[in-house]
Amino acid sequence: MDEVLDALAAEIRSADGTVALTGAGVSAPSGVPTFRGEDGIWERFDQRDFHFRRFQADPAGFWADRVDLRAAMLGDGDVSPNAAHEALAAMETTGHVDGVVTQNVDGLHQRAGTERVVELHGSNREVECVDCEARQPAGPVVERARGGERPPTCDCGGVLKPAVVLFGESMPDDPLLEAYDLLGGADVVLAVGSSLTVQPAAGLPKRAQQSGAALAVINLESTPVSGRAEYDIRADVTEALPALADRV
Ligand code: APR
Repeated sequence: MDEVLDALAAEIRSADGTVALTGAGVSAPSGVPTFRGEDGIWERFDQRDFHFRRFQADPAGFWADRVDLRAAMLGDGDVSPNAAHEALAAMETTGHVDGVVTQNVDGLHQRAGTERVVELHGSNREVECVDCEARQPAGPVVERARGGERPPTCDCGGVLKPAVVLFGESMPDDPLLEAYDLLGGADVVLAVGSSLTVQPAAGLPKRAQQSGAALAVINLESTPVSGRAEYDIRADVTEALPALADRV
């Protein structure tokens, strides 16, 4: 891995811009389970229960399952950034990384200090009202739902929804446009800790390569774009990213 990291670091140093595209594998070392693979979330929960149509048809049942899913993902809630998050934040501080486009909703990139974070799938730290669109912290609302208020409602009477993009829900334009803008200007894209199987994130690496960027995939397993990546690094993110940050 040393030689490929040396070459990637040299390319980042000479690049006008490098952007990271991250997935659940970056948060896995913090104890947040991934979605796919052995012991993945979708091995334990039925993805259909968290579809936007289910939320619309049965918000009470959706929230009952959502409380359990959140507990499975966040445990007793003390997840913290790991060395991979910190390495990306350090590379942003030194000007080697322009920002992070993430599929993760846990806010760990921001807590590690990364300033420019585009959350493609929203945030699990807030809920929003489907009527007045007011947002509020998710924690107390999840506790109300756990206590039986299902679905939890806004002061205006509207039903509250986690501020994440559900399957079947249209992506908000702003994060996607910001991701296109950030990635469009990158000479190097680091696709890190993602199976790259869910659109639109899955299509972003190829789009960046078509714009002339060099693609580095850093992931434990192969991904659909690993074969065409300039750098295919099969490694743990908590080893590869700090080692890369040390080299740039
Ligand atoms: N180091 C490197 N790679 C890792 C590590 C690690 N420590 N741990 C896991 N991985 C890799 C796995 O091999 C897998 O390929 O991270 C990837 C995680 O893939 P997924 O679980 O599919 O997560 P992600 O790609 O982020 O899923 C995308 O799917 O369910 C939706 O909205 C959800 O945002 C999520 C989206």
